[in-house]
Amino acid sequence: MEGPHDVLVVGAGCAGMRAAIEAHDAGADVALISKIHPVRSHSGAAEGGINAALGNASDDDPEKHAFDTVKGADYLGDQDAIQVLCDEAPEDVYQLERWGAVFSRTEDGRIAQRPFGAAGEPRTAYAADITGHVLVHVLYEQIMRRDIPTYEEYFAWKLVVDDERCQGVVCWDILNGGLKTIGAKTVILATGGAGRLYTGTTNAYACTGDGMSMALRVGVPLKDMEMMQFHPTTLAPTGVLITEGCRGEGAYLLNSEGDRFLKRYAPNAMELASRDVISRAEQTEIDEGRGVNGNVLLDLRHLGAERIIERLHGTRELSLVFAGVDPIQEPIPVRPGAHYHMGGVDTDLWGQTSLDGLYAAGEVACVSVHGANRLGGNALMETITYGKRAGRHAADWALTHTTVEVPPSVEADAEHELKQLLDRTDGERPWQIRDELAATMHQNFGVFRREDQMQEQGRIVERLRERFERVVVDDKGTLFNNDVTQALELGFLLELADCMVVSGLARKESRGAHARPYDYPNRDDENYMRHTITRLDASGRPQLDWKPVTVTKWQPMERTY
Ligand code: FUM
Repeated sequence: MEGPHDVLVVGAGCAGMRAAIEAHDAGADVALISKIHPVRSHSGAAEGGINAALGNASDDDPEKHAFDTVKGADYLGDQDAIQVLCDEAPEDVYQLERWGAVFSRTEDGRIAQRPFGAAGEPRTAYAADITGHVLVHVLYEQIMRRDIPTYEEYFAWKLVVDDERCQGVVCWDILNGGLKTIGAKTVILATGGAGRLYTGTTNAYACTGDGMSMALRVGVPLKDMEMMQFHPTTLAPTGVLITEGCRGEGAYLLNSEGDRFLKRYAPNAMELASRDVISRAEQTEIDEGRGVNGNVLLDLRHLGAERIIERLHGTRELSLVFAGVDPIQEPIPVRPGAHYHMGGVDTDLWGQTSLDGLYAAGEVACVSVHGANRLGGNALMETITYGKRAGRHAADWALTHTTVEVPPSVEADAEHELKQLLDRTDGERPWQIRDELAATMHQNFGVFRREDQMQEQGRIVERLRERFERVVVDDKGTLFNNDVTQALELGFLLELADCMVVSGLARKESRGAHARPYDYPNRDDENYMRHTITRLDASGRPQLDWKPVTVTKWQPMERTY
């Protein structure tokens, strides 16, 4: 066993690093595990900004931020969790600034804030259009300053549970090969989302839902797994994110007739309506024949070269490199793509799960501040505020609990399972299953959902899970064996897809990202203002349950933009 540590953080994006810093500063011995180098974490792809009611561009306050978030979530968010986020956000952003985050500035030198979708005020602090990249680097500097060790290129595979609490993680050492068990009094999952469940996604190849599935396998429930957010502006054909910051700066969305079609879907907010509303509007335009080769057009030309280069230089570069389009001269082809999982590991306000010693923060978790639809800019904020809270609580818990016990059978069982996979010489290659899973999820569990398609997807996932039992890993080596880690990732993805379909079928209404226009076109607060919960039964299949939504002061109202 390596370690043991007081706090072991799995994942080194914004949530993981912020948690590790907080736990360290609370006096705990902390380590990070990351399957890639921390500064390559997917948080770095968050472009447009981070939401906090700083009030630098308008008369904003945390209460307005909280209401916008509750409404944006289509009333499925837990209002106590939202209030915590919005109240703590301003100080948490100033903390990042003190650590050196180079936010864009107002004329008088304060942090600049731009409008973002479904926000009543310009609330999104930003560093041009590379905000996540800047934050990842700032946090990594703080990790290095504190000499917090990172098990880099370690693939976290299994949680160690003994004496009914989480006491470590079994990992595959990607660089050197072999299983390594790291003991810890507490483990914080900060592994991000699972966008790789879909063909068209903004998510990095690393986003395979590892932490969600690891938690599920030790009996910890997942919440609201049907709620996958589609971002309205992803670049064709790669799915690379074109930031909402473009629309925040004033870009238009046009159909093939050159029409700003949002006037028919969100006449007040137009391009700054919520993401679910805009994605549905785009998909409708495309489906009804007013798209352009399966896309709509994002027009920045009227912003002028100077503003594009100053505030959206990353977007221009992405667009030039991946689509050969210069947004100064022509509109960018965009379409909805899988972007963010509002669901995840069920946690309380301190990131605690139902298993002692196990925490989750960031996209892997569902606390839930995003409900059925996340506001752009709230994800980065959640990573910071809830990363901090999980880090603090885990440290306090660890410093009052003394022992770490990893029974020898844990590693022996993992070795045995891995050997079975590696010894198999005949079977199907994992990538075939992975491609089929992503293509069918896109087709059958996308922006719009139909009962028969979801049923069909359930059958497809079941068959893919059976085929997964017979996959063969060609590379039998130890050094940098991506073949084996990708097979393990596929196992994670398949379980999560199963949970999504089961939850989606159970939610017989339309709410936020879960749109069923053909059979249940309306929101049904009487029956479905509650969270779906999924757990695995003894045979590994998801079982559905429900959990109430926490309402503090905002009763559900009609949601228009
Ligand atoms: O569009 C964006 O810049 C994405 C931001 C977010 O998802 O929060």
